[in-house]
Amino acid sequence: MRAVIQERYGSPDVIELGELPEPVPADGEVLIEVRAASLNGSDRENLAGSPFYSRIGGLRRPRHPVPGSDVAGVVAAVGSAVGEFAPGDEVFGELAGYRGGLAEYVATPPALLARKPAGLSFVEAAAIPQSGCIAYRATLGVREGDAVLVNGAGGAGGAFVVGLAKHLGAEVTAVDRADKADYLRLIGADEAIGYEDEDWADHRDRYDRVVDLIGHRSPFRVHRALRPGGRYLMVGGRTRILLATLLAGPAAGARAGKRVRVLAVPQSRADLEAVTELVVAGAVAPVIDRVYPLAEAGAAFERIASGRNRGKVVVEVPGSR
Ligand SMILES: NC(=O)c1ccc[n+]([C@@H]2O[C@H](COP(=O)([O-])OP(=O)(O)OC[C@H]3O[C@@H](n4cnc5c(N)ncnc54)[C@H](OP(=O)(O)O)[C@@H]3O)[C@@H](O)[C@H]2O)c1
Repeated sequence: MRAVIQERYGSPDVIELGELPEPVPADGEVLIEVRAASLNGSDRENLAGSPFYSRIGGLRRPRHPVPGSDVAGVVAAVGSAVGEFAPGDEVFGELAGYRGGLAEYVATPPALLARKPAGLSFVEAAAIPQSGCIAYRATLGVREGDAVLVNGAGGAGGAFVVGLAKHLGAEVTAVDRADKADYLRLIGADEAIGYEDEDWADHRDRYDRVVDLIGHRSPFRVHRALRPGGRYLMVGGRTRILLATLLAGPAAGARAGKRVRVLAVPQSRADLEAVTELVVAGAVAPVIDRVYPLAEAGAAFERIASGRNRGKVVVEVPGSR
């Protein structure tokens, strides 16, 4: 089968299109004929091997040669212990080990897969799993009228966070590079801040919820931007800050009832189904920046590595059977 192959960490030119044997599903796995795979910030990190947490399980080289964690496709075969899916079913989801999706076929346990709603294309469905599930968890408990700030809102996952926060009735401030301001307003932000122009963490007692997709500030700084009772959730960012937030976050701002935490998003079919229901109902939509064919996966990685994407970059895989 054709597959995108990444043998080492580096810039987008380390990946190439090659041939690998078609995977054979184990007893507890399904074989998916991939129709589309979307890229996330985590795929950019897994390509570069930075931040350091992206090397967990593969210190010197990627633990699995094929990148890509979010897929949509058609079940081609099932292992003998799989009862819930059958060949021909249209499915989508995040792959258990976060890799393997940028290929014509991938074998994976079915626990994280959901049935693709008929009204969604494979490209749309592939754009949902990781970013939709992050946004679903990051906005749980947001109430009408809350002031929500999304830091790093212009990339793969931000549009879902902004969209869900707006759906819940929040006033949303979105932060990203200044030239993405029009895009941020287009996806529903009430206010857009360019990170080169203004530091949102200087705003005192302003936000009920901060969702930080690209954290690089100390927990003792970010808590000041929260209102009493507010929550700061670090989703991604620098390893040093991740550790500092894990260790010192609970103490930062605790006296004012503020909570500063790392948000660990579980891989969950229930969450995927919940956020997809909201997509099908029209409450929120995946924002697709560009679609590339598998043969141009390198260009897709260049796009996310450059930060020029506004929303999700998706790689389409032509049916091979
Ligand atoms: N917590 C969990 O359980 C969990 C699970 C899965 C994934 N993750 C993590 O979640 C993150 C998801 O982010 P994503 O997919 O949306 O990433 P992304 O596509 O890389 O988006 C990040 C955005 O932040 C912008 N940015 C860069 N520097 C910034 C700054 N100083 N201030 C504000 N914005 C800045 C980038 O723009 P420019 O590049 O143009 O500057 C880009 O638009 C990843 O780090 C991933 O590893 C966490």
